Amino acid sequence: MTVSISPISDALGAEANGVDLTRPLTQAEQDVLQQAVVENLVLVIRNQHLNPEQYLASVRLFGDTMPQHLTEMLMKDHPEIAVLDSRNAGADADGTVYTTGSRDWHTDHTNHAKPPKFTALYAITLPKSGGGDTGFANMRKAFDNLPPSRQAELSALQTINKIEDKAYVSAADKKKFGVLQSHPLIRTHPETGRKAIYIHPGKVAKIEGMSEEDSKGFVDNLMDQIIQPDVTYRHKWRIGDFVIWDNRAVVHLAHRDYDPTEGRVMQRVLVQGEAPR
Ligand SMILES: [Fe+2]
Repeated sequence: MTVSISPISDALGAEANGVDLTRPLTQAEQDVLQQAVVENLVLVIRNQHLNPEQYLASVRLFGDTMPQHLTEMLMKDHPEIAVLDSRNAGADADGTVYTTGSRDWHTDHTNHAKPPKFTALYAITLPKSGGGDTGFANMRKAFDNLPPSRQAELSALQTINKIEDKAYVSAADKKKFGVLQSHPLIRTHPETGRKAIYIHPGKVAKIEGMSEEDSKGFVDNLMDQIIQPDVTYRHKWRIGDFVIWDNRAVVHLAHRDYDPTEGRVMQRVLVQGEAPR
C-alpha cells in the first residue's frame, strides 16, 4: 500500500489515497498522514469501513482522545465517540430547533483550557435527499490576507470563552465545562509556527477589555471580514468518509440545508490539544 496525498481545494485540505484504516500502517505511512493534516489543515480519507474500535485506533494515530461535552450523545461502550444524529435534534426554550453539530463558523471547544487540536468525523448515515455538507475555512490564510495594521490589532486581543447558553447543553455539562477560559485571538501553531485566527464566536463571552455588546459587534465584523471564498472549502460527504482537521488553524460550519428527519449521523472524536499561545 502506498499512501499519497493530493490537495482538494485551493483554500485548504487534502485527500489521502491508498489508505485502509482497518490495516496496520507503517511508521512512515503514519508520519505522512500526521504531516498531511498539519500542513493541509483538513485531511479526508474516503471509503473506510470502521467499527468503533477501529475508528478510535485511527484517530489515535493523531494523538490522545479527550472527553466531550454533550454527554447524552456519547456512545455507551466508547464514550470517546459522540454520535451526532440529526434525528435527535432538540429545541431551545424559544422553540428554535438546533440540529446537532450545526452552528456558525467556529473552532471546537474553546471553553477548555486545552481545547482539542484535532476533531475527527466519520460519516455513518447521510440524508437521502442530500445536503449536510461541512464548510472549512483556513484561518492561517485568513490571517495572512489581513493588512499588517489589522494583524497587529488582532494579535493584541484575548477572547474570554464560555460554554454556550443553549438548551442542548445540559445543566450538568454547563457546570462541569463552564469555567471561563481566556485564549489569544491570534494563536501560533506549535508545530508549524504559523499564526492563525482562533475563534468560536458562539463561545466568546467577550473580548478582554471590551463590553459584551462591543465584543459581539467586533466579532461579527471580524467574521464577515475573514470568511471569504478564497479561504473556504465545502466538503460533500460520502458514507465512509473519515475527516480530521486542525482546530488550531481551521473554523468549520455544518450546513443546515437538509431534512434532519432523514438522518445524518456522524461519529465525532476529539484529540487533546495544548493551551493556545
Ligand atoms: Fe464543531
